[in-house]
Amino acid sequence: MYTGLLHTHNLLRYAIVILLLLAIFKSLKGWFGNGTYQESDNKVSLFLFISAHLQLVIGLALYFIGDKYKLISEFGMAEVMKSEELRFWAVEHITAMILGIAIITLGRIMAKKTDVDKIKFRRQSIYFILAALLIFSAIPWPWSAVARPWF
Ligand code: HEM
Repeated sequence: MYTGLLHTHNLLRYAIVILLLLAIFKSLKGWFGNGTYQESDNKVSLFLFISAHLQLVIGLALYFIGDKYKLISEFGMAEVMKSEELRFWAVEHITAMILGIAIITLGRIMAKKTDVDKIKFRRQSIYFILAALLIFSAIPWPWSAVARPWF
């Protein structure tokens, strides 16, 4: 069960990375090119929103089915903060990802709140870039200090 969820969580990362980059590219193009907000723009933002929320649910399941939620009570906050690996799983990954997903959600909501296309694109650009910075920095890439394989 844990292994299956972990593989799904691992692979879903690529959907989120691709959708975030695509959403940012389309939003910046629409913002600076004075484009019209089309159904395809809404679809990309919707798929991004759905995959991010699915990833949140799987991440929370991994956190509680596995032993990650016990790290702080088991080792104490001081020990956790001293160890790169423990700090990454107990604090950094979960905090950055939850914030990143909240910012994606806010970006979608804020874009929907206006009928002016340029403002929709501008809001999406800003929120999605912020979310991407947080999420990309907290993925355990093969080159990160806390590394995990590509697949
Ligand atoms: C956009 C959001 C997220 C992305 C892109 C992401 C990405 C990843 C990746 C690539 C891994 C390594 C998978 C592997 O080893 O095969 C991982 C592991 C993990 N993530 Fe996430 N994650 C996200 C959100 C979350 C959230 C919100 C939580 C918790 C609430 C979470 C909890 C975990 C846990 C517990 C592990 C497993 C660590 C282990 O078993 O060693 N993730 N994540």
